[in-house]
Amino acid sequence: MRAMRTASRMDSIGTETAFEVSARARALEATGRSIVYLQIGEPDFDTPVNVREAAKAGLDSGLTHYPPYAGLPELRAAIAADTTARRGLTVEPSNVFVTVGGKGVMVYAIMALVDPGDEVIVPDPGYPIYESITRFVGGTPIPIPIRQANDFRVDIDELASLITPRTKLLVINSPANPTGGVLTRSDIERIAELALRNDLVVLTDEIYSRILYDGAEHVSIGSLDGMAERTITLDGFSKTYAMTGWRIGYAIVPDWLVKPFGQLIINTISGVTAFAQAGAIEALNGPQTDVDTMVREFRARRDLIVDGLNAIPGFSCLRPEGAFYVFPDISGTGFSGADLAEGLLQEAGVCVLAGTAFGGIGVDHIRISYANSRENLIEALERIQAFVTANAPARA
Ligand SMILES: Cc1ncc(COP(=O)(O)O)c(C=O)c1O
Repeated sequence: MRAMRTASRMDSIGTETAFEVSARARALEATGRSIVYLQIGEPDFDTPVNVREAAKAGLDSGLTHYPPYAGLPELRAAIAADTTARRGLTVEPSNVFVTVGGKGVMVYAIMALVDPGDEVIVPDPGYPIYESITRFVGGTPIPIPIRQANDFRVDIDELASLITPRTKLLVINSPANPTGGVLTRSDIERIAELALRNDLVVLTDEIYSRILYDGAEHVSIGSLDGMAERTITLDGFSKTYAMTGWRIGYAIVPDWLVKPFGQLIINTISGVTAFAQAGAIEALNGPQTDVDTMVREFRARRDLIVDGLNAIPGFSCLRPEGAFYVFPDISGTGFSGADLAEGLLQEAGVCVLAGTAFGGIGVDHIRISYANSRENLIEALERIQAFVTANAPARA
């Protein structure tokens, strides 16, 4: 029965809990229960009309064939121009690769760079796929703790202490999932110094770079002196333009990674859906008013959820400057994050994620995505308050 056994590398692949928890919540809903969904990281808005129209026009104009594997030239040019304008990083279209989701970029970056035994420093808590794919290729993820006590920023001295001769790649994510934390200019400058001094490549996940509040600044590490040649920048359309279902992201890579990225794309996807790319061109080149409107609404929801959570006994929640997540410390309720998430789903009909879905540091936390209507957020807050009030004292 040797054949009907998966390859040993399948033992080391992880998952993204949000997808599994969503399936469980939908199964509960199918039994007649009411569920408020606060677990998945996707805007509840529809993709802007002009973007949808552009994709439809693309379909009608014959964008139904294989596109160039790296992306439509007009889209690569639009991404390069946007990168130069918004990130202050001058890039040529030849350094741009269009991928299936931003997720594609992290998979290709790790596959292209990490040998068995290499170490990859990943944020903890952080997006789980960095760690999963690192293990999958035989690398060793080294978690850098991201603590609420440090405003969910990286402690740079601690980061320095984790670098060894085996460290190959450093992953940063600002604004961050799951914390909403934003790294400051000084943080990014100090991280760049470490990368230069220790000859590291940086994968910078900037998928939330347009979702910023209160005048917070986004600093793109690839724009700093000497960093472009050792930085892979990840961004995409899912979050900024409410296009999660379109599956379009992109990478900005240095010249020496152009050939490897091309080979990985040819070997896996051949390229990204051609008419969807027509929509992405319009997203970047068309009016940005819908993005501004969405970000304004997210900001109001952030305040609603932060204030609401902090009014619940046992919750301590920071007011993040980016993304659409909060990651409250709930240790004061007497629950662990995992027990609270389970209780909220089963008994209160509120679907959130345990902090440990993002790494060991999150044991006392839950993650809430507030990309949902204010009405649903208010309903969720009432249910959480009632559940915690009724159940926590017995456990505390
Ligand atoms: C930090 C981070 N990076 C990348 C992604 C992937 O986004 P997509 O593949 O939809 O572009 C996500 C999605 O949740 C994310 O939170």
